[in-house]
Amino acid sequence: MIITIDGPAAAGKGTVSKVLAERYRLAYFDTGMIYRAVGLEMVLSGTDLTDEKAALKFAQDMTFEKMMALSVHPDFRSDIGGQAASKVSAMPDVRQALLKMQQNFALNPVFADGTPAEGAIYDGRDTGTVICPHADIKFFVTASTEVRAMRRFKEFVAKGMDTTYEKVLADMIARDKRDSERQVAPMKPAADAILIDTSDMDAATEIDVVSKLVEEKLSKIA
Ligand code: C5P
Repeated sequence: MIITIDGPAAAGKGTVSKVLAERYRLAYFDTGMIYRAVGLEMVLSGTDLTDEKAALKFAQDMTFEKMMALSVHPDFRSDIGGQAASKVSAMPDVRQALLKMQQNFALNPVFADGTPAEGAIYDGRDTGTVICPHADIKFFVTASTEVRAMRRFKEFVAKGMDTTYEKVLADMIARDKRDSERQVAPMKPAADAILIDTSDMDAATEIDVVSKLVEEKLSKIA
């Protein structure tokens, strides 16, 4: 079984993905990590984030191992990592270079320890439209920009990061705009995606709503 969950930052994709992954023994693929890894490598090496040739080279050389090593860097999840990811992900050649790596995961989904999974759950922006257009179940999870910015701000504060709500909100608006207006694979719901607005939901409610929809879909597939 393949499930895709797309939508903007801090909409609640990761939370629900992890719960569904455990419940249905699915391997979880957070596809934003590869763009963050490429963007952060460029930042750390002092490469200009508008240099498309350099970005392509970093993307072509990206591996799961490198991505995991970069993921422990303090800026991997910060606004610096998010903005860098958003910039490199708007480059068509970079997306093309990272396409197969993402699609291949669905062919042979495995957990982090290498054991085979029953399927995969993808979290991203274009996983239902481009990466896995034939997924069994697709969701597009969103929430108001202000709600998402407040969630992200609280996460950053909990991690001890020095930031303000206004800064997080401004970064989120800029990132949403770039992600939804780019020419290749813009962030948008797949035609057959189920839309969920989590603005007024806590995590438990969201998990409940999505789980019921998955069960409904599964009963129809079976
Ligand atoms: O999901 P996350 O916030 O980690 O993603 C970081 C950035 O990577 C996004 O803002 C977006 O620009 C890019 N991305 C993408 N396609 C995906 C996943 C992430 O373009 N499937």
